Amino acid sequence: MDRIFSGIQPTGDVHLGNYLGAIRNWAKMQQDGIETIYCLVDLHAITQWQPPATLRANVLDMASALLACGISAEKSVLFVQSANPHHSELAWIFSTVARIGWLNRMTQFKEKAGKHKENASVGLYTYPVLMAADILVYHANLVPVGDDQLQHLELARDIAQKFNHDYEQDFFPLPEARLQQVATRVMSLRDGNSKMSKSDPSDMTRILLKDNADTIAQKIKKAKTDALPLPDSSDRLEDRAEARNLLAIYAALDGQTLQGVLDEWAGKNFSDFKPILADKLIAHLAPISQKMNEYASDETEVMNILAKGAQKATTLSAPIMSKMREIVGLQGS
Ligand code: TYM
Repeated sequence: MDRIFSGIQPTGDVHLGNYLGAIRNWAKMQQDGIETIYCLVDLHAITQWQPPATLRANVLDMASALLACGISAEKSVLFVQSANPHHSELAWIFSTVARIGWLNRMTQFKEKAGKHKENASVGLYTYPVLMAADILVYHANLVPVGDDQLQHLELARDIAQKFNHDYEQDFFPLPEARLQQVATRVMSLRDGNSKMSKSDPSDMTRILLKDNADTIAQKIKKAKTDALPLPDSSDRLEDRAEARNLLAIYAALDGQTLQGVLDEWAGKNFSDFKPILADKLIAHLAPISQKMNEYASDETEVMNILAKGAQKATTLSAPIMSKMREIVGLQGS
């Protein structure tokens, strides 16, 4: 049986990139015969310092957003990473398996640490090792993510493979990414070459799930485009990153291919296209943001869901950890 695991950092607000690239897929994967485990990764969030009160508030907001996007407390295990100590225990074992050279290749560390990498936390550097533990502590085999996480997933596979090899066991599965067809990487509305992200200083670069209709319309109106009409083939979008991004968002919302959208819009202008895109976004996101507010105002209910999820998660990982300790030769198996 397939077992799915994915995670999101409870930092800042959920944006359209998180939603189209990952969360929408998480909701779709909740089907009979598939186990789905979704995690708010607070231990990852603190690799860059977070005020404790903000972190706590962000966990509630993020859980409300996930529930509003259709993650079901009945169908899925939804919980906070730090509530299951097995993640960090396995991360330590994996830090003895992963090689420094592997971590040195991680582009996300380079991007996040910037020019001052000597001052970055050790946790930010070893972050992908914890991410491998998140997945493998449940023996999950499929991981729905955006394409910015592919390198980390490759590392998770390398760690699983080396563990199996070093201990001469076929113990950890090699997890695979599951990408969406379009919008695997939603780009900034102001720069089609950098991804939409929570950390961009300008709020105009991203659509948030909680944005109201006016804000969405405004952000799309101001989104960077070019003066050319829309082409009839996706090959002609090679050097039109902003145009491609808006078209991909449209395609993802409509559940069609990029070419399908071009067939509909070829020869027309962005001034015609943008208001229709804004309407689609508003129609799609308004019910989500309304539900988000409802969940966020019922903190007790959300905290109960997370507590039950943590119990289920720990029950799933306990036998795997016990076997792992035995394989490694640790006490307390
Ligand atoms: P995070 O919190 O940055 O993002 C959560 C999910 O959203 C996707 N995403 C995007 N997809 C398309 N376009 C974008 N602009 C965009 N921005 C973000 C991410 O790919 C991700 O799927 N390291 C992870 C969290 C994590 C995790 C895990 C994921 C920790 N442990 C284990 C999977 C499995 C992260 O920081 O995601």
